[in-house]
Amino acid sequence: MNLQLLLLLSSLFLNLFLLSYLSIIFCHYSQLRWTSAAAAEAEAIAAIDCSGHGHAFLDGVTAGQGLPGCECNTCYGGSDCSLLMPECPADADSGDPLFLEPYWQQHAASSGILVSGWHRMSYQTTGYDFISLELERHIRLLHKAVGNAVTDGKFITFGSGSTQLINALVYALSLHNSTSASPAHVVATVPYYPVYKFRTNLFEGREYKWEGITSEWANASASSRTNFIEFVTSPNNPDGLLRRSVLRGSAVIHDHAYYWPHYSAIPAAADEDIMLFTNSKISGHAGSRFGWAVIKDEKIYERVTRYMLLNTMGVSRDTQLRVLKLIKEMIAAVGGEDDIFEFGYRTMRERWSKLVSIVATSDRFSLQKLSPQFCSYFEKRREPSPAYAWLKCEREEEKDCSALLNRAGIISRTGTLFEADSRYTRLSLIKTGDDIDLLLKRLVALVSGVNQSGSFSYVPTSHVIA
Ligand SMILES: Cc1ncc(COP(=O)(O)O)c(C=O)c1O
Repeated sequence: MNLQLLLLLSSLFLNLFLLSYLSIIFCHYSQLRWTSAAAAEAEAIAAIDCSGHGHAFLDGVTAGQGLPGCECNTCYGGSDCSLLMPECPADADSGDPLFLEPYWQQHAASSGILVSGWHRMSYQTTGYDFISLELERHIRLLHKAVGNAVTDGKFITFGSGSTQLINALVYALSLHNSTSASPAHVVATVPYYPVYKFRTNLFEGREYKWEGITSEWANASASSRTNFIEFVTSPNNPDGLLRRSVLRGSAVIHDHAYYWPHYSAIPAAADEDIMLFTNSKISGHAGSRFGWAVIKDEKIYERVTRYMLLNTMGVSRDTQLRVLKLIKEMIAAVGGEDDIFEFGYRTMRERWSKLVSIVATSDRFSLQKLSPQFCSYFEKRREPSPAYAWLKCEREEEKDCSALLNRAGIISRTGTLFEADSRYTRLSLIKTGDDIDLLLKRLVALVSGVNQSGSFSYVPTSHVIA
């Protein structure tokens, strides 16, 4: 057989194959009974053009009967988000993990779900404490696939974000340790994630109260150091360092929100008695409000479960369904071309290395020191890729770093919120690409001494989000 005939036959075969494949797909879709309208609506809204600087959402505000409009990224405006507002400050304040948005846009087909009108209307679900057993199983599989936590022989309970579990755990531990009449002392090490203090103070009562920072207790006598609950955030928010408990003998809540390959090397699987995780920083779906706690002790687990029962009767079943889909997708992609951890690491490492080079051009600022470390997930030493930069103003006269940045058109989160010195301020590196581009641009101008004072319309935020 000559070459031309061979090519003709293979092309014929390929066409026949494609035709039969398409006819199977067509038959399949023509059998859809109630999903096609919802699918068409979702596709129509996803197709609205927002110039790459915003999105239209299914529940976006509509003008009358029309389709929802674009919701633009910070500093972009116009009906299609194509206008960059020149006086707009770079917002590096909140820990909104939107850097993962492009990942899910690239995986639109495998990550979308369609929820029937009658999906899990009941208070009940498959697990006894309002949890989806299938989701719980997949959370264990995810930890195993990433190798960042040991879950065997431990209980898992869900929260509406790990924020809800912060209180559930403090409540459970304070009852657990309540041999003395005095309330449990809740502490953390500076600089710490301020929400621990805010939430503890919000619910402060007979059982527990916020007692400040660990350094004030580290040298206290053993007798005065009973009944402590210590928050250990590892990697830490704001400085990205891996941390251990400071007070010996305290009950410890290990918050591992950032112990994922996007942000940190994974030297070994964490195996502590109480570990807190949040889906917000793994898949980036902070708006779905989903977190979980891995708990060794059955009594503590039961108290957390009781808190969840009385507080919200568990987590939205719709959220659990969505998170199940996302976790399945993340597990399926582990180690492959579409690995979200590889994507997350690559993105964060690039942002961090750009920032390091900008800051290194002057001695006015410094950053936290992070070194390359062996990561069991990537099976190699990897460069740092923290979620936040912990920036220090080095000049004697520049005592309020956040205020200085504000004047240069950068919104950061002052060190005093983390109970650290005002010479420090936190820059979030996990927001959108637009936020990062503007932040780096403003920083370049600042370190090179370009005077930008007075031109920015800065509005201080009155609340701390993430
Ligand atoms: C250390 C830490 N723990 C917990 C949370 C809360 O996460 P969630 O969105 O699950 O409430 C955050 C959010 O920024 C965080 O930084």
